[in-house]
Amino acid sequence: MATIGKDIAQAAKLLSDNELVAIPTETVYGLAANALRPEAVVKIFEAKQRPFFDPLIIHISSLSELDKYAVNIPAIAYKLAERFWPGPLTMVLQRKSIVPDIVTAGLDTVGIRCPSHPLTLSLLQNLGFPLAAPSANPFGYVSPTTAKHVQDQLGDVIPYILDGGPSEIGVESTIVGFENGEPVIYRLGGLSIEELEEITGNISFILNSSSDPLAPGQLKSHYAPGKPVVIGDIPSLVHMYSGSQIGIISFKEEYHASGIARSWVLSPSGSLKEAAQKLFSALREADRSDIDIVIAEKFPEEGLGRAINDRLKRAATR
Ligand code: TXA
Ligand code: MG
Repeated sequence: MATIGKDIAQAAKLLSDNELVAIPTETVYGLAANALRPEAVVKIFEAKQRPFFDPLIIHISSLSELDKYAVNIPAIAYKLAERFWPGPLTMVLQRKSIVPDIVTAGLDTVGIRCPSHPLTLSLLQNLGFPLAAPSANPFGYVSPTTAKHVQDQLGDVIPYILDGGPSEIGVESTIVGFENGEPVIYRLGGLSIEELEEITGNISFILNSSSDPLAPGQLKSHYAPGKPVVIGDIPSLVHMYSGSQIGIISFKEEYHASGIARSWVLSPSGSLKEAAQKLFSALREADRSDIDIVIAEKFPEEGLGRAINDRLKRAATR
């Protein structure tokens, strides 16, 4: 079993020895290795059983590190980094050759982000190298937002989990690329479109390209948990699935009806931030409970509600 602790020196030692360490970030927990050492990075793919065509994000300690790993960085990318780093924004940029092929899946671009979690930031500042880190879940499963989530699924195959408490944001970073110098959203996430557009103006999307190997994070069923998930009007779906043991995921309202065995109200006070924070824990609990089906409502298409709806849709696709 992995050790769970807050010992940055031990985490740094393991990472310097090319071992894996799970790290807390403000979005979700990551499974980290020295990004500059292929023999370390390969262990991430083995532990997660992740296909090698799925590229990894590298995590850096500050904006001043960016031009070590990327070239031809558009001016708008610097503006975004100045405004949103450290934070839940990943930028896909043209890579420098110092970044190994195994990190980028052979692409000529690399995803880069500076996370804001204080433990992981000080870890990064202690290391002489960036960290490649995908979410710390087996490939195809929901991302972990606590050290325990990581322990439950990967505890047997990694030595150490750095415990930074529950992830504050709870959904993965927003991924932005640049096409002909214009920013484009590849993945909805913890940074809302509204906030991004304060810097970029109207921004376009390339989402849900389910078979596009360039952005496997967009695989339609990437976030599927074990239980079937359906999305829509809760009372009518409860009626449709009568006879089943039903779990409900709702925004602020609690529903009561026969057949409802479990209920996760993500934010009784109506905060989309709080709802995003709790979403993946609810999906994990639903998966482990003895319900037959999860019925979720559609969240408001604004702020983090868009990322919540995106993850629910992926969970509902199989
Ligand atoms: O919040 C996050 O982004 C978390 C934390 C740990 O930082 N990380 C994360 O990594 O969600 P991962 O690997 O689970 O999802 C990142 C996705 C990949 O699946 C891939 O689709 C996309 O980022 N990606 C990475 N590099 C890319 C590249 N060069 N071009 C296009 N997409 C890329
Ligand atoms: Mg992931």
